[in-house]
Amino acid sequence: MARPVAQAAADEARAGDGQARPAEVGKGELRVEHVSKVYDPEGAAFVAVDDASMHIAPGELRVIVGPSGCGKSTFLNAIAGFHSISSGEIWLDDELLCGPNKPQAKPGADRVVVFQHNALFPWKTVLDNVTYGPIVQERLSKKEARDLGRERMEQAGLAGLEDRYPSELSSGMQRRVEIVRALVNDPKVLLLDEPFRGMDSLTKSVMHESLLEIFDKNKVTVMFITHDIDEAVFLGDKVSVMSTRPGRIKETIEVDIPRPRDYRVLTSPRFRELMAGIHGEVEIEARKAFEAGEREMA
Ligand SMILES: Nc1ncnc2c1ncn2[C@@H]1O[C@H](COP(=O)(O)OP(=O)(O)O)[C@@H](O)[C@H]1O
Ligand SMILES: [Mg+2]
Repeated sequence: MARPVAQAAADEARAGDGQARPAEVGKGELRVEHVSKVYDPEGAAFVAVDDASMHIAPGELRVIVGPSGCGKSTFLNAIAGFHSISSGEIWLDDELLCGPNKPQAKPGADRVVVFQHNALFPWKTVLDNVTYGPIVQERLSKKEARDLGRERMEQAGLAGLEDRYPSELSSGMQRRVEIVRALVNDPKVLLLDEPFRGMDSLTKSVMHESLLEIFDKNKVTVMFITHDIDEAVFLGDKVSVMSTRPGRIKETIEVDIPRPRDYRVLTSPRFRELMAGIHGEVEIEARKAFEAGEREMA
């Protein structure tokens, strides 16, 4: 059976293989404390997230799974600063991003988001896309940004594509470029909201191995949302299951499969055991969501 892990203090800085990632101590620790989000509080008062808490250690790759509509994107968008929270607190290291007197976090280069849809500038080359952030923020000179961009593209297996336009790349390549573009900003936290949704399974598995390679080379904390449980177990150090709406972190499971991981992991008994446990938890929540929908329809 999947092994539940107590949250909070037990969320120590370790990877699935027990090896600390090369993250700097204290960089990129994300703490979400009792966060709720009510849409339209003066009107319909729709509770999307209710009392959700989660601690992600620096350099950890945390996956959040849960049925559609349970509040996963709401949760991620609150961390990114795209909307306010109704109660609770979100901390990044020792900075209070949002809380009682500051309902909305300020979006910042310390938290970068990659979504499912393509967000590259179609009129810019791949290298110009990758270097856009540090140049507009004046963090790096154009030359420094381009050198760094080329280096990171090479690390991600994208060398030779610098002068291409996004439309000339496959969707998998485009998503890889987006991840490199996000990491060039040197964020503390990379927030990914179902980035590989809709891709065919072969492209997806290439993307997974590529993401893990990129992840291993970067000192970054990752929060990755999906409703694909294979993807969750393959990628995650830990997988948190969100309850049906209003979303809460119901359970967190440690993925004790050593890294580096490759496709052979998918057929290992431990992988299947973890999958079955998490699948069971998510299915309970999906069934509740379905039944609630049926009641609303009745
Ligand atoms: N801006 C909004 N206003 C009102 N309700 C919203 C808004 N955004 C999302 N919701 C609702 O909140 C719930 C959670 O949505 P979301 O966070 O997108 O779920 P998930 O990402 O898990 O599929 C859904 O029922 C959705 O319809
Ligand atoms: Mg969503």
